[in-house]
Amino acid sequence: MKIQDKINQSVSTINYLGYSESDLLDTVNNLNQLLANYHVYYQNLRNFHWNIAGRSFFDLHEKFELLYNDAREKIDEIAERILTLRHHPISRLTDYLNFSTVKESKILHSDTEMVSTILKDHKEIITTMRTTIESAGKAGDEGTIDMVGGFLANLEKQSWMLDAWLQNQDDKVSKES
Ligand SMILES: [Fe+2]
Repeated sequence: MKIQDKINQSVSTINYLGYSESDLLDTVNNLNQLLANYHVYYQNLRNFHWNIAGRSFFDLHEKFELLYNDAREKIDEIAERILTLRHHPISRLTDYLNFSTVKESKILHSDTEMVSTILKDHKEIITTMRTTIESAGKAGDEGTIDMVGGFLANLEKQSWMLDAWLQNQDDKVSKES
C-alpha cells in the first residue's frame, strides 16, 4: 500500500486553512515520508546510544541521546503539521519501516560506522525535506516551508559536526597506521 492510500481521508470537512485539497496532497505525502524516515532514524540513534562502547563512549552516548531527543520532538511536530493540514499521519511501526528510505541499522560495534550511518540517514532525511519544501512551495504552504526549513538547517549543521568528528577519526587511523 502506498502512502497516498493511507492519507486519502481528510480528518475534517471544514477547510479552515483555505488550501485547495489537490495542491496539498503532495506535501502531505512528503511529510508522511519524512515522518517515516524520522522514526527509523530515531530508533537507529537509540540503538547506537545503547550499543556504543570504547573510547568515545562518553561523547557519543550523550550526543546520540541529544540527537534522538531532538528527533522525537520533530516527529511530533511533523505529525501535527499533517493533522493541521487536515490529513492523517501514518502511525504504525510497520508502515514506517515499509515507507522509510532511511534503513534500519543492524547493531554496529564501531563508533566510526555509527557516525557514518547517521550521516547517511541525515542525507536521506535532508533529501526528503527538500522535496517537501518544493511541494509546499507549489501549494503556497508557507507554514510547512517554515517548519521544514528550520529542521533542514539544523540537520545540515549537525551533519557538519558529525563529519568533522569523522575526519578526526580518519586522521587518527592514518597516523596510527
Ligand atoms: Fe540513556
